Amino acid sequence: MLRVGVLVSGGGTNLQAILDAIDKGTVTNARVEAVISNNANAFALERAKKHGIAAECVSPRDFPDREAFHEALLSRVDSYHLDLLVLAGFLVKIPEAMIAGYRGRIINIHPSLIPSFCGVGYYGLKVHEAALARGVKVTGATVHFVDEGMDSGPIILQKAVEVKAGDTPEILQRRVMEEAEWKILPQAIHMIANNLLQE
Ligand code: GAR
Repeated sequence: MLRVGVLVSGGGTNLQAILDAIDKGTVTNARVEAVISNNANAFALERAKKHGIAAECVSPRDFPDREAFHEALLSRVDSYHLDLLVLAGFLVKIPEAMIAGYRGRIINIHPSLIPSFCGVGYYGLKVHEAALARGVKVTGATVHFVDEGMDSGPIILQKAVEVKAGDTPEILQRRVMEEAEWKILPQAIHMIANNLLQE
């Protein structure tokens, strides 16, 4: 059984998609052991508690500097003895010590087709604003392994989503979530849990 930890900052719809997929049996051999947020008000924490999953906040505000925050985050993550860390809307740059300690065992969902609209400054709604401003006709989502760079690790899965006339960033964000993110993130976990990833 793959022990999964999910790191979140906000609403947690991707977390919910993972929990639902495990409950339905479309993701097998995986269990979410813990949900950790940098934001005490993240609704994702409520979703975890409702599911009976350990949920906690490690906020940078509670530490004197970034280094102390990073140490605390890593020590809380380590305490769950996790096999896989899933960044599901986690808007904190991952400390290098965590990347080194969990190399090849951290995955992230990004709401565009990488390498478009990714890297520094591209997160959440900003990604969809940029896609609409550029006038792309197709966008989508990407699940990738996390390395030291920003959205630069090896790609695991991508799914394209149509941009439609009249889309606002919010409408497009919702379509990308429904048609792509909520499918490929659980699917990637299933593949990792069942050794289905091809080198
Ligand atoms: C998702 O759209 C995710 O792809 C994005 O944040 C949102 C979180 O939503 N992540 C990034 O932009 C990372 N660069 P959720 O909390 O409802 O899952």
